[in-house]
Amino acid sequence: MIAAHARAAPEAAPLPASIEFTLTPREFDRIRKLVYQQCGIRLSDQKRDLVYNRVARRLRALSITSFSAYCDLAENTSGRELEELINAITTNVTSFFRESHHFDYLAAELLPRIAARRDARHRLRAWCAGCSSGEEPYSLAITLAQTGLFDRGWDVKILATDIDTQILARAAAGVYRRDKMDGLTPDLEKRWFEKTGGPGEGLRQVRTELRNLIAFRRLNLVGSWPMKGPFDFIFCRNVAIYFDRPTQERLFRRYWELLDPEHGHLLVGHSESLATLQDIFRPCGNTIYRKTC
Ligand SMILES: C[S@@+](CC[C@H](N)C(=O)[O-])C[C@H]1O[C@@H](n2cnc3c(N)ncnc32)[C@H](O)[C@@H]1O
Repeated sequence: MIAAHARAAPEAAPLPASIEFTLTPREFDRIRKLVYQQCGIRLSDQKRDLVYNRVARRLRALSITSFSAYCDLAENTSGRELEELINAITTNVTSFFRESHHFDYLAAELLPRIAARRDARHRLRAWCAGCSSGEEPYSLAITLAQTGLFDRGWDVKILATDIDTQILARAAAGVYRRDKMDGLTPDLEKRWFEKTGGPGEGLRQVRTELRNLIAFRRLNLVGSWPMKGPFDFIFCRNVAIYFDRPTQERLFRRYWELLDPEHGHLLVGHSESLATLQDIFRPCGNTIYRKTC
């Protein structure tokens, strides 16, 4: 009779993500301290679930069973796991021609002014800081190329940097899914991209002539910088927003140092502002600032 009532033991349901591991307040603090020290990203209490979800992937990948053991590893492995931690924590949202008014300003105002410069330098240097998966520097390169202003004899280079090594490798490859290329008109897509991958994969790769304009490098914006400038303009959009105010101000002052004294411009994201730095930057458009000397 007992057998008649016996049921197969139910399969163990997967634990909800939030209790697969325990993230104590102390471990959360250890992680956010590490992240802040390493790359300036400030993680508020509201970011606890984000930290849990992203770092839990590292625990699974490494078969580590506690956040405490993970913190020991990240703190003590001469930077190797720290790099993975930073890769996991960074937010890489971006798109082609995001905040398109900046590209309009470049094409209509800033690039013609640079091209008309009276000195004999014939050199243009731009820096795209926090370039994520590359849509931003490629949009910049397309804008430069489309103007035709720098075709003959100009030495044009875009430096594109990010702290996240994984996203930077994707940026350098310049391969995108076609359904993620919303910001591009069909004409621009046809002119600057070519089909790649297998049939039906819908992948497009940035053409070599455009890729050649850009040098992708890992660079920590709160670390030391090897380059000396001057840059004609710097894009640093939707990056400083992750830093606290003192870190933002230090960063903007460092940009000031590297910008061309004549017409150096800094372009920031829609929720970033240089209002407290009016002594060194003058607003000249929506989130567009010009260096004052
Ligand atoms: C939200 S994305 C912005 C991408 C692009 N600038 C845009 O506006 O579309 C922010 C990028 O900043 C990078 N980042 C965050 N902290 C950084 C740091 N300390 N140094 C360099 N890059 C950093 C992240 O890895 C990420 O790719």
